Amino acid sequence: MMSSEWYTASAPGKFVILGEHAVVYGKPAIVLAVDRRITCSIRRSPRNTLNGEYIDFNRQPHFRYLTRDVHYAMDYVTSSEIPPGSGMGSSAALSAALAMAIREERGEPVDERSLVDEAYGAELFAQGNGSPMDASACVHGKGIGVNIPGAGDRELWTITKGDRTWRVSDLDVPDMTFVIGNTGIRAATGPLVDKVRRYMQSNHFACDVVEEIAAVTLMGYNAIRRNDVEELGSLMTRDHKLLSILGVSCRELNKLVNASLPYSYGAKLTGSGGGGCMVALTDEPQKVVDAIEARGGTAYVVKTGSDGVRMEPTPASGPLMDIPMDYPPRQ
Ligand code: PMV
Repeated sequence: MMSSEWYTASAPGKFVILGEHAVVYGKPAIVLAVDRRITCSIRRSPRNTLNGEYIDFNRQPHFRYLTRDVHYAMDYVTSSEIPPGSGMGSSAALSAALAMAIREERGEPVDERSLVDEAYGAELFAQGNGSPMDASACVHGKGIGVNIPGAGDRELWTITKGDRTWRVSDLDVPDMTFVIGNTGIRAATGPLVDKVRRYMQSNHFACDVVEEIAAVTLMGYNAIRRNDVEELGSLMTRDHKLLSILGVSCRELNKLVNASLPYSYGAKLTGSGGGGCMVALTDEPQKVVDAIEARGGTAYVVKTGSDGVRMEPTPASGPLMDIPMDYPPRQ
């Protein structure tokens, strides 16, 4: 008899303190999970549905990849608190939650490493490029460092692809206040990662900028260990300038970063850029929220230290925000 029991998992979004884009080339990065999650429920069903409608797996590459060994129909229900295409890891969080729910439903072993492999696999299948940073942050939660020298005793896993290696380690979540500001502009990660790659291939100067981002990230890691908010803030602002030189900022992001700076130690875009979110480090969070909202952004004060992917006792209630789904049909 077919079981129609629900299996529900959730995973957090994330923001990057320092190191996005450079991490694609095996450089260091520092990432924190946030208190906004995607929840995904599944149950066996006579037909495949997503939030009550027929699911076209060709337009849902994360679902298509993660269900490749599932040979029966399912109902999938998602509810997301993470704005899609915003640099907060919505697709990695979706992938991590769906991967965990599927493994539980199938009675397969569930451990962080295998969930990272699944979630990163789904990201690569959907967008064709990128690092395992987002997948690692959404699976592990709390804080992670990527390719941080000397963090070996906290190492979680190592992932290799071609000539690149990412050593992911657990990171103490700093006791600092961050505000995220969303421009409301959706931007897909894949094309921005491609843009940086083309720039680096055509111009050695872009490779130097990536090296400088790596150096800034390592200095930022040391500033976090010293709890030095002033130094970390100024490194974040410097990183924003370097990312702008790489061509991944935009007018709206610059506007929100500039609006935050008078009340912040520093501010930068977070994630792939081109729109999406920025983050400010501050001890005047309400002033930063007000400054961002006065410029047309949506702001919230981040609570850090969130759990990674986990099972949930109650099924998802249905969409609060879209999940990443605007993909052209795959052949
Ligand atoms: O915008 P997001 O949440 O997909 O973050 C992308 C981070 C990049 O470093 C730009 C790409 C990657 O895969 O690491």
